[in-house]
Amino acid sequence: MSKEVNELIKQAAIKAKQETDDEPEPGLTSEIEWPVEVKIGRGLEGAIATTTKIGYVNGAKGWLVYQGYNCFDLAEKSNFEETCYLLLFGKLPTDKELRDFTEKLTEYRHIPEATLDVLQKVVTPETHPMSALATGVSILGNLDSTADDTSVEAETDVSIKLIAQLATLAGAIARIRHGKDPVDPDPELSHAGNFLSLMTGQKPDEVLERIMDVALILHADHGMNASTFTTMVVNSSLSDMYSSVVAGIGSLKGPLHGGANERVLYDLQEIGSADNVESWFKEVRETKRRVMGFGHRVYKAYDPRARILGPIAKLMTDRNPKFKRLYETAIKLEEVVTRELGAEKKIFPNVDFYSGTVYRAMGIEIAMFTPIFAVSRIAGWTARALEYLADNRLFRPRAVYTGPIKAEYVPIDKRS
Ligand code: CMC
Repeated sequence: MSKEVNELIKQAAIKAKQETDDEPEPGLTSEIEWPVEVKIGRGLEGAIATTTKIGYVNGAKGWLVYQGYNCFDLAEKSNFEETCYLLLFGKLPTDKELRDFTEKLTEYRHIPEATLDVLQKVVTPETHPMSALATGVSILGNLDSTADDTSVEAETDVSIKLIAQLATLAGAIARIRHGKDPVDPDPELSHAGNFLSLMTGQKPDEVLERIMDVALILHADHGMNASTFTTMVVNSSLSDMYSSVVAGIGSLKGPLHGGANERVLYDLQEIGSADNVESWFKEVRETKRRVMGFGHRVYKAYDPRARILGPIAKLMTDRNPKFKRLYETAIKLEEVVTRELGAEKKIFPNVDFYSGTVYRAMGIEIAMFTPIFAVSRIAGWTARALEYLADNRLFRPRAVYTGPIKAEYVPIDKRS
């Protein structure tokens, strides 16, 4: 089955290359000389915030690259632990380096009892798991005596802790929301395997573990997206990494960003079947709503992550036919949206479109979709915050003031 997943990823890579062969390759990267002159659009579109060696997205060619390695290669050949090492330390680890890093993750995966105690007191079935996750990270920060050491060295260690512990927290939250006790991490399992077992209380089968691993690799980093930038902005004030990550979690929760993956599933459920897609889409356009899981600020070609997750959604729903209808609805929606908006607005499925169908067919509840994103993106958040910290300068942009400047103060009893 793992071979089958790898073959799907290979085919996705071939398709991605064929469809964007006409786009010119980007030039060689060179040193940037500050200040850079750019035209800034709304939502900071086009703004250059910093330089980085961590990851690269080319929207025209549909490329996603971590430290030089394209996401198709990493998804097929790497694993999440190695990908985290690559993002944090800038190179693929040797065998010993990976073993040491994995051992550290195993050691750090256990979280203090006090954190679980608080979560058990405050998390209810109605709590959004992303809010609970932010609370959990904040408590971890309270309990870590090294938290306020903002040297790169200390922050690197906290980053490794957070990579390990976000999965433990998310797994515990998935259970606590349903009145179940958290379970302990299993030192024999991979990070992806642990995450699944921490959510379900059961050792996952090989295929589920491999697919979660692929999903974690694909979500690990993605340029200056909103949550990464948020994390970096907070960290640039020399606040602590826990506070920075709490902010990143808040940003990722929103439906225009990571929260889109759960909205996609609600939409697909609302549509109900492939037959209803045309009429649903017509109504969405008439009421000027957005189709969740489509469009991207950077990608104007097919998102490479969706190119991998689409076929995996098919594989998983073939395996769990209860969700076949979900997949058929999604495929039809892709066909209709790309037909109507693809050529004109360059709107194609993004990473969030198929990930939910994959997770649903793996038996994961919808509320946990965005936390899965966070369990992975913690790698990119911390890697980029650390890279910036090494040569830190406070982020502090400006706004063009468009209000009055000479208003006369009127006492309250004289105001109409
Ligand atoms: N459905 C319908 N129309 C869309 C969509 C969509 N999903 N996305 C963009 N458009 C239209 C938009 O209405 C606008 O049209 P017009 O020029 O006629 O006003 C045009 O495309 C440009 O939209 P924009 O909002 O200026 O573009 P943006 O770069 O700010 O949008 C986006 C990026 C991701 C916020 C947007 O595409 C969107 O809202 N998508 C749905 C939410 C979603 O799937 N988010 C996940 C993003 S990928 C993963 C992640 O980063 O978390």
